Amino acid sequence: MYCRNNADLGCGRESTRRGIREGVRVLARYWVPAAVAALHLTASNVAAAQDLNQAPDTMAARVEACTPCHGNKGEGTNDVYFPRLAGKPSGYLYNQLLAFRNGRRKYPPMNYLLEFLPDPYLQAMADYFAEQRPPLPPPGATDASQQTLQHGQSLVTRGDPVRQIPACGSCHGPALTGMEPGIPGLLGLRPNYISAQLGGWRYGTRTAKSPDCMQMVAARLTEEDVTAVAAYLATRPAPVNSAPAPKGTYVLPFACGSEPD
Ligand code: HEC
Ligand code: HEC
Repeated sequence: MYCRNNADLGCGRESTRRGIREGVRVLARYWVPAAVAALHLTASNVAAAQDLNQAPDTMAARVEACTPCHGNKGEGTNDVYFPRLAGKPSGYLYNQLLAFRNGRRKYPPMNYLLEFLPDPYLQAMADYFAEQRPPLPPPGATDASQQTLQHGQSLVTRGDPVRQIPACGSCHGPALTGMEPGIPGLLGLRPNYISAQLGGWRYGTRTAKSPDCMQMVAARLTEEDVTAVAAYLATRPAPVNSAPAPKGTYVLPFACGSEPD
């Protein structure tokens, strides 16, 4: 099932809403018991609190709060709105964490979670997930028609010069694995997540540093285009090397604030 009403009322919004409901459910399941346990410790049990201080402060322990939604190594979960993080450029992940903390990108469970975390902590979490290399998931099954998939392929690989839509691959890379430091790969993401993000740019719930090139691209896409690129991308097999291309490997068709020269 893809979002089909992205144009006006909204797939982006409805997807985001559903994502939020899911997020609150997961937070409640994993977080409330942990928070209650922590309160008990500080209030009454000094010995146990000392144990807590001696607990290993490894990165894996710090990102435990993230893994119910993003997977142990950031590989993603079964939830179609919770994105994979593993192997995306660390600069990109850091930009997103800043954007959630500062409210530029909106998803309440994450806005809330990051609210008081300092920059170096965010940077360390970004580095951690960028370094993880769990394999990409096998391509998803699709109920999209051949025609839809061909339209998606054509936008991703060639764009549409008449409508001034550059090929997605001209920025996300010929293998769609992204480029350091600020451009994410587009593989291993589910169609629902991709449509929701493109919707987010259209509705302004997701923005990036100016010039916000994805905002410009998303504004030129129709509902049909969004369905097609989301479906096509989700059917792509993993390339042999899924690491992002090194900085400066290719020149973008126009400037993006999140990918400084
Ligand atoms: C309750 C579930 C949940 C928890 C817990 C959570 N996230 Fe997220 N995260 C999401 C969802 C859903 C999105 C996509 C939101 C949107 O639509 O923009 C997201 C997006 C992200 C992104 C952007 C990914 C991309 O490709 O643009 C990063 C980075 C991220 N999360 C990191 C973290 C870190 C680090 C933690 C732990 C401190 C964390 N998340 C905890 C659900 C969660
Ligand atoms: C001019 C360069 C450029 C072009 C062309 C472009 N993108 Fe992007 N895209 C970016 C940048 C930069 C980001 C990261 C934005 C940020 O920092 O939030 C991004 C992010 C994204 C994301 C978010 C990924 C995630 O993990 O959340 C999606 C989805 C996306 N692009 C899809 C597309 C599609 C589909 C096309 C083609 C129709 C396209 N992009 C064309 C530059 C581009």
